[in-house]
Amino acid sequence: AKFDLIILNSKVVTASDISTCCIGIKSGKIRTLVDEFTADELQGVEVIDAEGAYVMPGGVDAHVHLCQDLKTGPHGLGGECADNFETGSRSAVAGGTTTMITFATQTRAEEDRSLLSVVEAYNARAEATGSYADYGFHIIIVRNDADVLENELPILMKDWGISSCKLFLTYETQKMTDSQLLDVMFAARKNLITTMVHAENGDMIRWLTDKLESKGMVAPYYHALSRPPLVEAEATNRAIALAHLIQNPILFVHVGSALGAASVRKAQTMGLPIYAETCPQYFHLTWNDLKRFHSPTCFENSKMICSPPPPPDASDQEDLFTGLQNGTFTIYSSDHCPFRYDHPNGKPSGVLEHKPSMEGEKHCHGDELQDLLKRKKGSFKLIPNGIPGVETRLPLLYTGALATGRITPQKFVELTSTNPAKLYGLYPTKGTIMPGSDADLVIWHPDTEFTPFRLTNSMLHHNVDYTPYEGTEFVNWPKYTILRGNIVWANGKLQGKPGDGKYLKRGPSQLSRSFSKTSVDPRYVASWLYE
Ligand code: URP
Ligand code: ZN
Ligand code: ZN
Ligand code: ZN
Repeated sequence: AKFDLIILNSKVVTASDISTCCIGIKSGKIRTLVDEFTADELQGVEVIDAEGAYVMPGGVDAHVHLCQDLKTGPHGLGGECADNFETGSRSAVAGGTTTMITFATQTRAEEDRSLLSVVEAYNARAEATGSYADYGFHIIIVRNDADVLENELPILMKDWGISSCKLFLTYETQKMTDSQLLDVMFAARKNLITTMVHAENGDMIRWLTDKLESKGMVAPYYHALSRPPLVEAEATNRAIALAHLIQNPILFVHVGSALGAASVRKAQTMGLPIYAETCPQYFHLTWNDLKRFHSPTCFENSKMICSPPPPPDASDQEDLFTGLQNGTFTIYSSDHCPFRYDHPNGKPSGVLEHKPSMEGEKHCHGDELQDLLKRKKGSFKLIPNGIPGVETRLPLLYTGALATGRITPQKFVELTSTNPAKLYGLYPTKGTIMPGSDADLVIWHPDTEFTPFRLTNSMLHHNVDYTPYEGTEFVNWPKYTILRGNIVWANGKLQGKPGDGKYLKRGPSQLSRSFSKTSVDPRYVASWLYE
């Protein structure tokens, strides 16, 4: 047959257009987009009738933490990552995501000095279980060893197709000084590697945390007060200045405040190649959600702790929505960083002196908490940062931004698939629907035929025992997820298997003009560096 799979009655959405047509798929690739197929062409071919619903390129989630264990920890606070490649990718495809870029993390332990051996170790973890979705790695770099940067970055790019690294301005075990950051940015630039920056001022956080603790303000809610938006804005401004000096493009990960977004916007207006990522938690949670449970001081609120924290209130969220519409934000990722609540190395770790028993005890109780506060055992600062969300990412954006008219369907696709594919060198294999592209698709329900429902964690496919979005109403959900022509999720059921996903070698960013030696703008302070 000419085709392996045909999708009829599609409202095909790309970052630029919406077109009512049918899709023909062959050997895992989009082969054609046409008005209709002939009876001959349809003969014996598997057919999905999209019933006029949106058909979008499969989600590309460029910020997913999997298999980061106690030693590496996603942020140096310990904590045991609840999802491996099997459970995390299972959750991804059930929410319409077909590509994940996850983190391979260097640590300051001597055995993790080599970036290559770190990547090999993470890849072994992925291969141990297999993945339901295609995947690649960003490398997290926490030290500036000249030999490692010089020898290994070219190999990472050439042999592994790793074209992005993440650097930290906070977390004691990960943050670097400005000159160390410059070292890595300079080396990354030479290798066409895009630098991702976690922008929070670690010293401001430490100072505020000490002050809060001295007043006994140690409950999870105070995590937010230890990181007001200014903390993000300062670090953002500083990283922009460093990038300006080096003349490399940077991507700010998980921008969570209006003030942070304003710093990004200002640099973009100056013409600098500054990109920004934002995440669902910054549109669906606020400071109040850190005191949502039994009482403001209930440690169950540790479930909502992430960094940067959610914004203070709804007016900040409105500003962030503006950034989604007007291009300040380039991509929308989950920052899926899963910890269990019922696990001693999960969300309660470091908080309760006793370990919560695995059966039954689901939240802290009054007396225990009083006792805890009196003895000032534990603190928000010891709770692992991060919340799960790889599965809810697309449905939350659909519900909160697309269905409410805040963004167009094309903008939805740009933020969730096309731009992450371009930024991280996967386009047009990933990120669009056109002949030759991988047949990675998410097919929604026709809006008129979907009965809104309230989410409970039992509906999700991650290995986490809670969702921050418990009880949230959703107005749509992916009906089908298709990975390279294979239906991996259909009508609420997984059909794929952990071996379906394959490793993706990526190229340099396709968003910035090439930043080769010759493209240095002599008006910049550091141009002589490249002569
Ligand atoms: O709280 C968060 N975002 N945890 C994940 C680690 C990181 O910094 O992305
Ligand atoms: Zn981060
Ligand atoms: Zn993260
Ligand atoms: Zn409680």
